[in-house]
Parts: sequence; C-alpha cells; structure tokens
Amino acid sequence: MDWTWKNPLPEEGRTISFVGKGGSAKSTTLAHLLRNWKKMGIPAVAHDADDSDGQEEPGSLLAWAEMLPVHSEGLGAPVYRAPAAPSLKAEVDRLRPRRGLSLIDTKAWDRGKQNSHLAAIRASDLLVLALYPSGMEKFRGASILGAMDEVETMSGHRPHVVCLLTRFNPSAGAADGVRKELEEEGLHVLKSEIPASESKTGYAQSFGTVPRLKADSDMHQLAKELLVEVTR
Ligand SMILES: Nc1ncnc2c1ncn2[C@@H]1O[C@H](COP(=O)(O)OP(=O)(O)OP(=O)(O)O)[C@@H](O)[C@H]1O
Ligand SMILES: [Mg+2]
Repeated sequence: MDWTWKNPLPEEGRTISFVGKGGSAKSTTLAHLLRNWKKMGIPAVAHDADDSDGQEEPGSLLAWAEMLPVHSEGLGAPVYRAPAAPSLKAEVDRLRPRRGLSLIDTKAWDRGKQNSHLAAIRASDLLVLALYPSGMEKFRGASILGAMDEVETMSGHRPHVVCLLTRFNPSAGAADGVRKELEEEGLHVLKSEIPASESKTGYAQSFGTVPRLKADSDMHQLAKELLVEVTR
C-alpha cells in the first residue's frame, strides 16, 4: 500500500476543529491523525485549546506530545498551547503551514462556558463533531449547532460540519442507529468510523505513546476522508 497522497489543500491551507462532549475521543483521534497526515506528506500543526485557561489537562494533546521521547518522530506535527479566545483565529492562521492543516483540539463541550468553542468555530473551515454513541443516546448536538448559528450571526462565517462516530462497540449495532438518526436531522456523518479498541495495542491504551501507523486502518481512512471534506 502506497502512503503517498496528492496534497489537495490550497496554498493558504485549511483549519479543522474537533468538538464534542468529554471522552468522545477528540484528542486520541487527533493524535493518530497527525501521525497519518505526516506519513501522507500533509503538513500540519495542532493547537491544544484544552488547557488555554491555564489548567493543564492530564489527557490533552499537549500533555501527550510532551510525553514522547525527544528522539522519536513524536506525533508528526508540533502541538502549541492555544492562545486565549480573542487571539485564536489570528494565531491559527499565522501558524498554518502552506498547503497544510491547522488542527484545534477543543475542551469538552459545555453548554455554559462556550467562549473557547465559539473562537474555534470562528477559526475553522471544518468542524468535526465527535460522537460516542450508545444504544440509548439521542443526538445532543443541538447546542453545538446553536453555537454555529451564533458565530454566523456575529461574523458571517459558518464552517462545514461533519459527524464522526467514535468509541462504539462494533458488535452492538448502536452506531447504525445513531448514524440514521443524525442523517434524518440533516447532518453529514463521515463514512469513516473509529470504533472502540481496547486491546493492549488499541486506542484506549495509546495515550502518551507514538501512535501506530497502519495503511488502510480506520485512522488512515479518516485522514483521507477529512482531506476531501475540508476541500469541498
Ligand atoms: N477508539 C477508542 N477506543 C477505546 N477507547 C478510546 C478510543 N479513543 C479514545 N479512547 C479512550 O477514551 C478516553 C477519552 O478519550 P480522549 O481523551 O481522546 O477524549 P476527548 O474527547 O479528548 O476527551 P476530553 O473532552 O476530556 O478532552 C481515554 O481514556 C482514551 O484512551
Ligand atoms: Mg481531549
């Protein structure tokens, strides 16, 4: 399998934010994507907006990057601490590589405190809404869509939004039901999915390690699909 991939990004590059409730696998998925894009020759930088209020989050992307040995390839892209909300867009635009990606890892979605999320939406071309479906779950992303309306009213900017199903049990069939429900709400659900992977070498155990690369894996598929979505 050939990893080389024709870079579809425009000269000015593109920005993607990952949003979703706590534990929806935003940081884990991003860490693996960074490594895949590096291998595919897509330049990227990441911004950790999970600890921008000064409180270091133990599971954040920045904490992950800092745990990797200096002589390793690391995550394959630099990870910066995101600045406070008012400066986020300018900083993300400034640091975005030519024909590359800026990625924003946001903190757990919280209805009450949305400043950093509004700033991430404002800075993004594409919003990836990570959803962790269980059999009982109803779509609770309405407040995220509401925030997008708010940003559009304030700035005239509305990013493209896609849903990503994460951490579900592949044998329980829950993901199919949630996919259908989201599509009925008019949302675009990515074909790529990141199911639960709990083995010793799985995603659940990967925090603080150099993410494993495998051609045609679910993460590789997702890395390719996001490049298509962000250049639509
Ligand atoms: N595909 C997966 N399969 C199983 N476990 C996973 C998977 N992805 C992530 N996890 C585990 O789920 C937990 C939450 O993942 P992660 O920290 O990436 O979520 P997050 O959305 O960034 O959370 P937060 O909003 O708190 O930042 C972690 O313990 C992680 O190891
Ligand atoms: Mg996180």
